[in-house]
Amino acid sequence: MTVVIEGAAQILRPPTDGLPYLRHDRAGELGAEPGSIALDGERIAAIGTDVAAWGSDDVTAHLDASGCAVVPGLVDCHTHLPFAGWRAEEYAMKVAGRTYADIARAGGGIRSSARALAEATDVALLDQAGHLAAEMLVHGTTTFETKSGYGLSIDAELRALRLAGELACTADQDVAITALVAHAVPDGFDADGWLHAIAGALPQMTEERRISALDVYVESVAFTNDHLQRVGALAAEHGLDLRAHVEQFAQHRSVPMALEAGARSVDHLACVHPDDVMALADAECAAVLLPGAEFLGDEAVAPARALVDAGAIGVLATDANPGTSPVVSLPLIIGLAVRRYGWTVREALLATTLNAAWVVRRSRETGSLEVGKRADVLVLDGPIESVPYRLGHNPVAFAFVAGRLAWQRPDCAWRLSA
Ligand code: NIG
Ligand code: FE
Repeated sequence: MTVVIEGAAQILRPPTDGLPYLRHDRAGELGAEPGSIALDGERIAAIGTDVAAWGSDDVTAHLDASGCAVVPGLVDCHTHLPFAGWRAEEYAMKVAGRTYADIARAGGGIRSSARALAEATDVALLDQAGHLAAEMLVHGTTTFETKSGYGLSIDAELRALRLAGELACTADQDVAITALVAHAVPDGFDADGWLHAIAGALPQMTEERRISALDVYVESVAFTNDHLQRVGALAAEHGLDLRAHVEQFAQHRSVPMALEAGARSVDHLACVHPDDVMALADAECAAVLLPGAEFLGDEAVAPARALVDAGAIGVLATDANPGTSPVVSLPLIIGLAVRRYGWTVREALLATTLNAAWVVRRSRETGSLEVGKRADVLVLDGPIESVPYRLGHNPVAFAFVAGRLAWQRPDCAWRLSA
């Protein structure tokens, strides 16, 4: 399929091509000039004034983008698919004042989702995950990451990773898979014993499953900084990236540990120590902020303005999971980030495109509009400034994944002519 997206009000462009990521103090350099963009098969063929010169004879579709912004497909680099069912009753408890740790210690939280996962059939799990992936696509997510972590036994973790692999084959999007090997301490183990078992199982996990990263949750109800170090060593041994859930509900000073272990990202950071902000901002490690979890859990708010001003590789994600963030819409996350972090819309879009793609090692392929990159492209129904402003509205009119029209909003169909 060859598509020319014509006459857009704004085309979001990086300051130069070929950047692996853009540090956030440079987000203001993202351009948003009017123009056109041509997609040829799976690739972006021309942008801006080059489109007229490109002029292929066999254009199969024209898309009238007047008044619209064209932006890269969004990248959600932190989700917990696949999971079974939801935990709305816990949300009601939290709203009434019970803490996450309290609910977890009473057998709720991750353990409750582990029980639900064990009881659900493969078909039911893939059905739920597939519907969520479709909902993500409608909201502009063209690449996402999934994690295991609700298995809580070696066999169940292997099953979750197998199902993530099946989701990767069936979803419209490009999917990266992370093994969240230390999420909660399973019954019958202590934390050290569980990591010993994981170390034994990792050769099988990496041989049989297409995983690219290991993840660990450091918290009073989960694992410690020593375990973070151990998971980092396992990741290095197996040639995998290290991701880490840190500083979500309390301060554990996990960031220096994670940096020392070579983490590709540290995620949450709501309670990060002020002294760790500069070190993180200087490092080649992304600060993945999860404002949906912060908002719904009434958590502390990450020092997002300070991280950005210091030049961190800032990233936003949904953290889609049945506990802390049952949210799949990145436009909503952008809206929360702009209001609660005091970010500009360019900062929020950089954090959900190029920099998020870097976290999952996709930024050579996607995450920015550049000739030759995969044609993961969104046409929004208004300017980029409307994305945070119209909070709760889904601005995505068209979503192309690798040049294929994967979603079009019915009320915008008139814009497309064959
Ligand atoms: O990223 N914090 C740990 N993991 C998830 C929540 C998991 C759950 O409660 O099911 C998170 O917020
Ligand atoms: Fe998470």
